[in-house]
Amino acid sequence: MSEDRIRNAALRDRVVPAATAAALIHPGQTVAMSGFTGSGYPKSVPQALAARIEVAHAAGEAFQIRLLTGASTAPELDGALAKVDGIALRLPFQSDPDARRRINDGTLAYIDAHLSHVAQHAWFGFYGDIDVAVVEAVAIREDGSIVPSTSVGNSKTWLDLAKHVIVEVNDWQPAGLEGMHDIYYGTALPPHRRPIPLEHPDDRIGETALRVDPDKIVAVVRTRAPDRNSPFSPVDATSEQIAGHLIEFLRHEVDKGRLPANLLPLQSGVGNIPNAVLAGLAKSGFRDLTAFTEVIQDGMLDLLRSGVLASASCTGFAMSPEANAAFKDEIDFFRRKIILRTQEISNHPELVRRLGCIGMNGMVEVDLYGNINSTHIMGSRMQNGIGGSGDFARNGFMSIFMSPSTAKNGTISSIVPMVSHVDHTEHDVSIIVTEQGLADLRGLSPKQRARQLIDRCAHPDYRDALEDYFERALRDSYGKHTPHLLPEALSWHQRWLDTGDMRPAANPPT
Ligand code: COA
Repeated sequence: MSEDRIRNAALRDRVVPAATAAALIHPGQTVAMSGFTGSGYPKSVPQALAARIEVAHAAGEAFQIRLLTGASTAPELDGALAKVDGIALRLPFQSDPDARRRINDGTLAYIDAHLSHVAQHAWFGFYGDIDVAVVEAVAIREDGSIVPSTSVGNSKTWLDLAKHVIVEVNDWQPAGLEGMHDIYYGTALPPHRRPIPLEHPDDRIGETALRVDPDKIVAVVRTRAPDRNSPFSPVDATSEQIAGHLIEFLRHEVDKGRLPANLLPLQSGVGNIPNAVLAGLAKSGFRDLTAFTEVIQDGMLDLLRSGVLASASCTGFAMSPEANAAFKDEIDFFRRKIILRTQEISNHPELVRRLGCIGMNGMVEVDLYGNINSTHIMGSRMQNGIGGSGDFARNGFMSIFMSPSTAKNGTISSIVPMVSHVDHTEHDVSIIVTEQGLADLRGLSPKQRARQLIDRCAHPDYRDALEDYFERALRDSYGKHTPHLLPEALSWHQRWLDTGDMRPAANPPT
């Protein structure tokens, strides 16, 4: 590693192996780490800590930490620590299979929080004291300030609040990331809050590095390891159909004069459907779009290259290895186009509302009246978490939720009589898209929404059963405003648990 990545001489003297740094973390401590969707997370210290925990457990000693991050991370962090049962409490978002298994068998406590809330909740003290922050950096400057790597997430807050700091300086990350970040230090707690001076998605309002008291830095670890993200599947026919419906709708909104020709700032969740939407936008004829979002994935880099997207504001990346290699080669171009912010700004409700973001997120299921479940399988099993979807759904100009109309080989309908868990209420949801079509729920009463969802979004295998439920509810419900048959409302989920199929026996697969 070149010496110039650690430009502060005193901190160069604090370079230690990962195991030595991990030994500074003790059982029961609250450890706050960098990282957002598989980017910019520390890679060596968490693995060294996991090895230490494993040895302690083998010797019959209790050793777990409380783990806070920006959002999900990767196998070297969440995976390594969950595998050895090293996490007592996790927040605010995860997508790791081992962590998910422990959350759902009840041995790992999980706080699923709106991503915009986490920094202020930490400041309010809801998560207790933060003992150690572990943050990945691309460089440490002469004054000891830290240039983050591929995500910012909550690192500003962790560095402010933690008693001790460990920095991983990762030589694999391109040095050219320096200058891409925008760290805003003007947030405060009520009653001292001032308006945030960001008027356009690409405004720069902050500094290019994270401030930290150098005396708090107890160890610096040198690493050379790649960010790791889940691989994307190729765009399939279903995702392509969903993307097609959505882009046709956006064109229609421009024609109607409800959106400007370059739309409004886009927020896009991660995954195959959002990636298909981005691929669709590339061929759509739209130009000069902007993004005010959490995560930049492969499709957005392509849009920036082609000029379809003029700029993108985010807090992290979710790139395939191929996209990452190309990103490194073109870093000077992307540094002019991309702004990496703290997640308290990338997801800030006031900014999302004022900029008028178009939120596009995935969902698990939606009910007849437009309530959305984004997190829980059959009402009780955590999939990932709400992430930033609520920040954009509640506050955006338009809140779009997308999903195939069925899951698990057609045995589950994504349109159900009543959702088994609510993340986004009917009041926060504008548009639902499945491969079957698009339902525009704006300005509709509950019963009108149900009609749209059955006719336009439900899979044909489930349309009759939904229609039947709705008609009987209209007739027999206690109230006729949002008609429900309470003993039956969640019976579809119970049927799937009992038989492996939501379809009533009288309505066999077609
Ligand atoms: N009922 C039961 N299971 C369902 C389901 C339903 N209605 N819909 C999907 N699933 C299951 C899938 O079968 C799959 O299970 P598997 O992992 O066992 O294969 C899993 O949920 C994920 O579904 P998938 O089809 O792969 O969708 P996805 O990757 O697009 O994820 C969400 C969909 C909802 C889980 C995802 O969008 C999410 O986590 N959203 C919340 C966070 C968020 O929106 N963040 C936004 C900013 S980054």
